[in-house]
Amino acid sequence: MSLLRCAACHEVLAIDTPLPWRCPHELGDRHHVLLLETSPNTIGADIAREIESDQNPFVRYAPRLAWWDFVHAHGWSDVEAVDALRLTDEKVTAVAGTGFRITPLTEEIALSSAIGVKGRVFAKNESGNVAGSHKARHLHSILLHLLAAEALGLVPWRGPADRPSLAISSCGNAAIAAATLAAAVEWPIDVFIPEWAGGVVVDTLNSLSARVTRCPRLDSDPPGDPTVHRFRTAVAAGSIPFSVQGPENALCLDGGRTIGWEAAEQLRDRGVSSLAGVYAQVGGGAFAASLSRGLGEGGVSAPLVAVQTAGCAPLARAWSLANDSSQGWATDWTNFMWPWEQEPVSLADGILDDETYDWVADFTELRRTHGRVVVAPEADVIAAASLVPQATGVSASPTGTAGVAGLITDTRERGGVGDVLVVLSGILR
Ligand SMILES: Cc1ncc(COP(=O)(O)O)c(C=O)c1O
Ligand SMILES: [Zn+2]
Repeated sequence: MSLLRCAACHEVLAIDTPLPWRCPHELGDRHHVLLLETSPNTIGADIAREIESDQNPFVRYAPRLAWWDFVHAHGWSDVEAVDALRLTDEKVTAVAGTGFRITPLTEEIALSSAIGVKGRVFAKNESGNVAGSHKARHLHSILLHLLAAEALGLVPWRGPADRPSLAISSCGNAAIAAATLAAAVEWPIDVFIPEWAGGVVVDTLNSLSARVTRCPRLDSDPPGDPTVHRFRTAVAAGSIPFSVQGPENALCLDGGRTIGWEAAEQLRDRGVSSLAGVYAQVGGGAFAASLSRGLGEGGVSAPLVAVQTAGCAPLARAWSLANDSSQGWATDWTNFMWPWEQEPVSLADGILDDETYDWVADFTELRRTHGRVVVAPEADVIAAASLVPQATGVSASPTGTAGVAGLITDTRERGGVGDVLVVLSGILR
């Protein structure tokens, strides 16, 4: 049976716990994080045959999800669980124009030769995923939990009519993913965005009927992102943390793994079971941790190369401290992670989180895979943003090409690196 264990205080939550967002000992600073421990599930042969070729990753890999254990612990059969997944996907499709479908993974020869990588560059293209980025994967496992817990009568509200609002803080892709999923199931949502957020994002959020709140930095604010402060206030008042940050909602790290499971199967189909690196752009850190863990669980070994920009690199700072230190990690939270002191700046503005909220999950993967953190100078961020569309035809945002920026940096500094994986995510808006 799977379980959730707090990395900071070692509290264990059984997998049948409803709404297991945060450690019960967390006192408002979010310096606890529940990490998922899984064990393989046995499933019936009939259902295994039925789902093995399904194109929806949440169905195809359903028995690997913590959600699967949750609903089974409450008595659902395999068939009931798969039916619920399919029904929700129909609702997502109706609003998003696509449901969750395995996204393409291709070998990018022109990209490899333009950068000078001595090996193949595989690129997974997430720009066609629900809401145009991988973010919806993180949120979908939270949504599935909410829907199941509500159907099972495990929640403190009576039903759809008196659902508490969802809440998220984000400046772009995550906000749009959250608003899309919320609209699909007609769940009210508050989105807390920075003062400077772009018009297209706001228009999209409005068209999805999200309630949008701009959050200027207030003189009374503690250090850190003002959108995060407003979001936490809403959660303290009863909203549901519909977050892509593990310390806010542990379940985002469940569905995030689907991207790694998919990539692993796609690579293994090509005969690739080990890579010289998986280059993952890091903002809040959930993406890198989920991708790396999913790859490992899918049987592909690859050092995690976590990429940050020179304009905001709190994970790089933390990892260099960890290498020099014999301290614990999550138990010594603020010795490793605190808000970036300068004003974060980069063209890759979606990864300017001033704290790497999921640094503990990232550290776990960096250690497991013998990975490292690369800080890309801004010139490489800019170069990647123009090279990727040219060489691959994928128009991802500069945030979504920032992993490639790290590959450019690394190739220059270390020479060719061998076969690698990058993820292009976030359509240009
Ligand atoms: C396109 C894209 N790639 C990667 C990331 C990084 O994800 P995370 O914040 O989980 O590190 C983001 C985050 O906003 C993103 O929008
Ligand atoms: Zn704890």
